[in-house]
Amino acid sequence: MLLLLNCYRFFAQDNFMINISEITFEETFSVRHIVLRAGKPIETCFFDGDDLPTTKHFGLFVNKKITGVVSVFQNKNNTFIADNQYQIRGMAVLNEAQKLSFGKQLVMHCETYVLEQKGSLIWFNARENASLFYEKLGYEKVGNPFSITDIGLHYLMFKKVG
Ligand SMILES: CC(C)(COP(=O)(O)OP(=O)(O)OC[C@H]1O[C@@H](n2cnc3c(N)ncnc32)[C@H](O)[C@@H]1OP(=O)(O)O)[C@@H](O)C(=O)NCCC(=O)NCCS
Repeated sequence: MLLLLNCYRFFAQDNFMINISEITFEETFSVRHIVLRAGKPIETCFFDGDDLPTTKHFGLFVNKKITGVVSVFQNKNNTFIADNQYQIRGMAVLNEAQKLSFGKQLVMHCETYVLEQKGSLIWFNARENASLFYEKLGYEKVGNPFSITDIGLHYLMFKKVG
């Protein structure tokens, strides 16, 4: 029922248009804040490395309204031996727009970007309740779940690309 309502809201509009484009880290905050840092100070939306030239931020727009965001950091995790690794962070879709394939499109956009950079592996710390979403996109869990303070249980997940 919720899915149908969401579909109605988003697809019953005239001139319906979706696009994904590069944005600044500041532009991610409106979605990060509501979805990932609800009730916390806006400063908590800033991630270390957000402002590095090697970090890219992407926004999914529905009729020019920012609806989903994701960020890609060039960052090696020593669990993996691959060169040129990238980390996905801040994956978030507005609550009323979830389960409409926007998250999937954002992850696929990141994969295309990483391939263009000749990256060989994508990894991230996935919230436990989002791990199945990533598994559906071909990501695998490594090891046991672990806790991140104030946020909850996470799994380290990865996918080889290229
Ligand atoms: C997790 C999230 C990014 C997924 O984005 P989305 O746009 O809702 O997901 P999609 O519609 O692209 O889903 C793709 C597939 O994954 C499934 N899926 C989506 N979220 C899921 C979840 N939390 N658990 C299990 N499956 C999920 C969808 O049902 C769909 O399955 P299908 O291909 O069999 O139809 C989004 O729900 C979100 O922002 N959640 C809150 C914040 C969060 O947890 N972010 C991740 C931090 S690691």
